[in-house]
Amino acid sequence: MGPADPGIEDRRSGGTCKFGGSSGQKQLGPCLAGWTRHVPLPMWACIGPMSFSASKGHSRSLSDNQKGIAFADHGAHWQLHRKLALNAFALFKDGNLKLEKIINQEANVLCDFLATQHGEAIDLSEPLSLAVTNIISFICFNFSFKNEDPALKAIQNVNDGILEGESNISTLQIFPSKAMEKMKGCVQTRNELLNEILEKCQENFSSDSITNLLHILIQAKVNADNNNAGPDQDSKLLSNRHMLATIGDIFGAGVETTTSVIKWIVAYLLHHPSLKKRIQDDIDQIIGFNRTPTISDRNRLVLLEATIREVLRIRPVAPTLIPHKAVIDSSIGDLTIDKGTDVVVNLWALHHSEKEWQHPDLFMPERFLDPTGTQLISPSLSYLPFGAGPRSCVGEMLARQELFLFMSRLLQSLVLQIKPFKVKIEVRQAWKEAQAEGSTP
Ligand code: HEM
Repeated sequence: MGPADPGIEDRRSGGTCKFGGSSGQKQLGPCLAGWTRHVPLPMWACIGPMSFSASKGHSRSLSDNQKGIAFADHGAHWQLHRKLALNAFALFKDGNLKLEKIINQEANVLCDFLATQHGEAIDLSEPLSLAVTNIISFICFNFSFKNEDPALKAIQNVNDGILEGESNISTLQIFPSKAMEKMKGCVQTRNELLNEILEKCQENFSSDSITNLLHILIQAKVNADNNNAGPDQDSKLLSNRHMLATIGDIFGAGVETTTSVIKWIVAYLLHHPSLKKRIQDDIDQIIGFNRTPTISDRNRLVLLEATIREVLRIRPVAPTLIPHKAVIDSSIGDLTIDKGTDVVVNLWALHHSEKEWQHPDLFMPERFLDPTGTQLISPSLSYLPFGAGPRSCVGEMLARQELFLFMSRLLQSLVLQIKPFKVKIEVRQAWKEAQAEGSTP
């Protein structure tokens, strides 16, 4: 079963769901779940934990009523904004704007900060989230926040508030609650902040210098306005509120996802010290201490890459993806799916299926390596950490680069040791010696 079989199903919320009750779940097997039309209770609870999901009412509060990308229905608006976001990533291919360079800069700042902790046990969440937020902020606006910036704190609080709401989504849909109100307030605060930046950027906009996502959106609006004579609808789809929703989605989808996967990777390495040592030995041998890791090292640091892939399997960021909706009458296997049916893909079940994975509940990075341990392999088609098809993750390439570059840079220079719920951090002796010899990475 592929969750985004072209032409089968492709969109977010709305419509009715024909599957309900325990018979529905039996019929569907463990890979799909659905909402009954009148009783919006998710039915995958017995299958695995869920940390990210959205349904009609909820997604509306996050997406300003279907604007943006992630929670928008299939259609001209979604198509345009997804295309523009992808165009923005294309700006960061080369030169000073190269993604790899931007990520490495933030990874260096992060490691320098962690090096000042001198053996203290800390929670990685804040410094990591700052680094990842800055990368997203650079892509959206070309600027980075400083550690104590109140705007940054506000954005982080907003993300926390949204996440708190997300994790209670099944109850939020049914009962009026403070969490839902808090989440809406958080979205509003974030939007006010982003709106301030957007307005400043609009004042200074010049078509001669397009260097970030906001520029791309503004330029598209200018082009559409100039094209008013024709049947061009794009102008309507590029109001400030539309732009804000898309930028908000990139922040919303781009920060917590990557931050949380990095924290999971660190957690698994802390609990598998021999694996951590083997990866560090590889880094010492292949990169050493005199240069910064690059993306081209990924094919050689295969154990690290396999570890990242295994974490994305065993702890998927979006265990039920984002709800899809059938845009035409279609089917999945023997099941008929009417147009308009909500389809929720149980990625958790795909990633933990015994039919597909040996000992699926065990953490085994080597499952992504060939028997010689030197080549990366794709062991199963049931592996979709970034989704698949037209609604797959827009930020996949960025996220994969971030995971590899952050992890290789952290392991290159730091000793990470376990402390309950925290990480004890020291600078590696070999790194100190290399720095003392005057080599700067
Ligand atoms: C490790 C990090 C990440 C993971 C595991 C991840 C995973 C996913 C998944 C599973 C989906 C839903 C696919 C579906 O419903 O079929 C998704 C959608 C999306 N992601 Fe990511 N993501 C990550 C990072 C990012 C980043 C860094 C960005 C942006 C810079 C981003 C932007 C988006 C957007 C905009 C969508 C909605 C796409 C659409 O509906 O057309 N994600 N992501």
